[in-house]
Amino acid sequence: MEEIINRAPQGLNGELSVPGDKSISHRAVMFSSIAEGTSEITGFLKGDDCLSTIRCMKQLGVVIHEENDKIIVEGRGLEGLQEPDSLLDVGNSGTTIRLLSGILATRPFSAVLAGDNSIAKRPMGRVTGPLKMMNAKIDGRDNGRFTPLTIRGGNLVPVHYHSPIASAQVKSAVLLAGLGAEGKTTVTEPYRSRDHTERMLKAFGAKVEVEGTNASVYGQPELTATTVKVPGDISSAAFFLAGAAITPSSSVRLENVGINPTRTGILDVLEQMGADVTIQEEESSGNEPSATIEIKSSRLKGITISGELIPRLIDEIPAIAVLATQAEGRTVIKDAEELKVKETNRIDTMVNQLKKLGADIEATSDGMIINGPSELQGGSADSFGDHRIGMAMALCGLIADGPVTVKNTEAVAVSYPHFFKDLNMLING
Ligand code: S3P
Repeated sequence: MEEIINRAPQGLNGELSVPGDKSISHRAVMFSSIAEGTSEITGFLKGDDCLSTIRCMKQLGVVIHEENDKIIVEGRGLEGLQEPDSLLDVGNSGTTIRLLSGILATRPFSAVLAGDNSIAKRPMGRVTGPLKMMNAKIDGRDNGRFTPLTIRGGNLVPVHYHSPIASAQVKSAVLLAGLGAEGKTTVTEPYRSRDHTERMLKAFGAKVEVEGTNASVYGQPELTATTVKVPGDISSAAFFLAGAAITPSSSVRLENVGINPTRTGILDVLEQMGADVTIQEEESSGNEPSATIEIKSSRLKGITISGELIPRLIDEIPAIAVLATQAEGRTVIKDAEELKVKETNRIDTMVNQLKKLGADIEATSDGMIINGPSELQGGSADSFGDHRIGMAMALCGLIADGPVTVKNTEAVAVSYPHFFKDLNMLING
């Protein structure tokens, strides 16, 4: 599929609610599955990635169905999961394979996990390494560093794992495995990554401790079913925030956006760049805060983005790169090597494509340097099967001097199935 995005002379205007948070939706289904009793999930993201998680949990014997827009999960408890009789296909979803590896490491049966061509290239050693330290038997290509992964778990020992990277997927895999080990399992990270696992495990009744960059769980808890309310995904909202900020005459209001502080780096960046943003926090229901965010187009200036800010906005960098092409001066993104191992190498894909449309942008070993503002040209772009690249490149069409055709747009269904419908609604004001 392809989409053609034309210049939006009236800007982006209107209000909408973006779909549910992808990270929280995955966890809601997994944790409900390993809890005792029936959990209800509202606001669940029915994107391809989270549907992969549902499919895998069903293969492990969990009954999951939809009722009046709610996802109902009949939890079996960790010990109630069953050995799957076929391969667990995670599709394009890194969160599914990495978190599920942690859960499967606790189970004394065999399961095989694999996904699409992108998953086959993504590093799994960061998860299989610590899980093997805990006693799980794991094999896969290159000694368990790549899919397909075969996991036979059980009899785990707790660890204190010092992760070399700030990764919520690594942290979560180890903490979930820790649920099946007797005693305290701790993960220490260089910087704090998103903390949805810690928050939600607590809500299901686990004993969780967080101190600075250490997160711990105590093994063998009784997890009890609960209700999970999933807020809108700030990573999806980011595309409209960036789009409205750069497209003159825009005024957009986004409701029910998750503003967990470990995810709001994009709001810090917008503020530092001089964007016109208003955040009105909503009354908190559940464990994840949310807000209504209003944004209007404004003059922007280049900034440096690095260090502990990076994990707080790692998924927003494709949108931020587009934003930076319209900011006055130099934007430097560094300490972001992790971009190379996302759904695509997001440093290379963003730099190559923005360059083709006339941006002044260079790749560096750990990020990119963008000089702005530059007048973008119409032309063609490609998602390369990466949802966030497809959505970021679509934004270029709003301000380019000719139409931008984005190819392979079916990929956006991974996190935002009706992205182009919502974008068109805002274009038509
Ligand atoms: C995610 C964590 C991040 C993020 C990914 C979702 C999660 O990955 O990029 O889209 O749900 O835990 P890392 O943990 O590998 O940084």
